[in-house]
Amino acid sequence: MAEHITRLAVFCSGTGSNFKALHRATNEKYINAEFVLCLSNRSQCGAMEYARENGIPALQVSENQFPDYERFAAAMLDTLQENRVEYIVLAGYMRKIPDAVVEVYRDRIVNVHPALLPKFGGEGMYGIRVHAAVLEAGETESGATVHMVDEVYDRGRILMQQKVPVLPGDTPETLAQRVLACEHELYPRALGKLLSEQKA
Ligand code: GRF
Repeated sequence: MAEHITRLAVFCSGTGSNFKALHRATNEKYINAEFVLCLSNRSQCGAMEYARENGIPALQVSENQFPDYERFAAAMLDTLQENRVEYIVLAGYMRKIPDAVVEVYRDRIVNVHPALLPKFGGEGMYGIRVHAAVLEAGETESGATVHMVDEVYDRGRILMQQKVPVLPGDTPETLAQRVLACEHELYPRALGKLLSEQKA
């Protein structure tokens, strides 16, 4: 019998460098899965562009396209189900996942965060702010975390973490760069492991 290839949707709002690293891993069969959809709150972004260049449908599903939040959440869920999406991979998605979607996709939504959770996480902790807070706190190490997503920002079960040193003279930008490079290696590893464990 042919092996099942997990159908993934990636949610993005920005450059999508993590999406690219994950897509490479699926292409190289390091992860036994395929991206069938790229969803964004924005009308255009680097990640959507990359998706389209690679034959992956990229769609905007945004709150302001709908009269209320419930219909927005329902439309998101419909889009996922129409595309028979099995797992949702967040890669720089700048919105909260509606609870109605979390409920249906419980334990099947994954995110990468640019710090060692539970430190430096939660609402408002994103982008360069995370790295500025790490430096401000005088930490000697930071890192990246891949975790499950539930109803609360950055609270879901931690799947994998990797430490990154904070170096003398680091700025939020230099630290961000080092952590991002770590994410590109960690995220495919963590997702690959999760999916292979689900299939076992
Ligand atoms: C990464 O730093 C990730 O940790 C966070 O959003 C950023 C996305 O960057 N969740 P990219 O779009 O994958 O380059």
